[in-house]
Amino acid sequence: VSNYQKINQQYKGKDIISLQQFDTSSISQLFETTKHIITQLNTNTIVPYLQNKLATLLFFEPSSRTISSFSASIKRLGGVTIEYQNPLETSSAVKGETFEDSIKVFETYSDIIIIRHFENGSALRASNVADIPVVNAGDGYGEHPTQALLDMYTIHQRFNTLENLTGLIAGDLLYGRTVHSLLRGLSFYKGNTIYLLSPKRLMLPEKDVKEYTKLGLKLIQIHDEEDIPKNCQFWYWTRVQKERFAIQEEYEKIKHSFIITPNLLKNQGNKNMIILHPLPRVGEIDPRIDSDPRAWYLSKQMKNGMYIRMALLSLITGAL
Ligand code: NCD
Repeated sequence: VSNYQKINQQYKGKDIISLQQFDTSSISQLFETTKHIITQLNTNTIVPYLQNKLATLLFFEPSSRTISSFSASIKRLGGVTIEYQNPLETSSAVKGETFEDSIKVFETYSDIIIIRHFENGSALRASNVADIPVVNAGDGYGEHPTQALLDMYTIHQRFNTLENLTGLIAGDLLYGRTVHSLLRGLSFYKGNTIYLLSPKRLMLPEKDVKEYTKLGLKLIQIHDEEDIPKNCQFWYWTRVQKERFAIQEEYEKIKHSFIITPNLLKNQGNKNMIILHPLPRVGEIDPRIDSDPRAWYLSKQMKNGMYIRMALLSLITGAL
């Protein structure tokens, strides 16, 4: 934890491993850069802050959104990519090459490495080996910092603040890495109350509850949809993380504990709220919700992913 370099408004050359590296000023700076990039994209298809740069995307776990969002970000910045999916099946890892050696190989060719891996701490391990910036695109059930940053950007876009909010985070709070990063991010801002809705088996670990509470978040754990207060400004729904279960029947039993239906939204929601989901969803949001103007998961939220990543990459490569 001490080996995470704090951003302190200096992104250039830094790894992005955990929300622990951030503070409100650095996040504001990222948001401002994001807005700047969005403005430029209104008149250009490419804003060339990554020209002559090569990024390697190393994805040891399935991904569609995150990998293509990073890929689009890099290409819209005029950069190029090596995209390596499932290296455990196709790379020298099959021959027994160590993780550290593989990182060294890709470092040789690249200006930046973006990595997703099934082990907690893997991105940190990669960053300890590589001298070029490493970006964590999800490490096991640890963190997913770029997702949390885009989630926060989206909440900020709607409410113009990240303070004094009341929100709901639902689903898999034990294994959901996006949740872990998001809670840490929200804990930097004062006055936030977050309701946590999960099956008992998938509650936020006690040590996280303690830590985020100490940082200033008010956390209220609930286990019944009827206990969702009607005044939440956002609902952040997540899928139960199938791949983290050793026993699949256990997953099957709880995978659909909580589903957003038109009825639930009518009974527990309000007209000003927004609904977010990092995606993929696997049945926990009824598709009838999609056309509701409050449903931001398939539209604004996902789009912001590309913008935030473009801003972040421009900052860590020192172009902005
Ligand atoms: C998330 C992830 O990989 O943690 N997906 C994503 O990047 N948007 C969420 C998930 O897989 O449930």
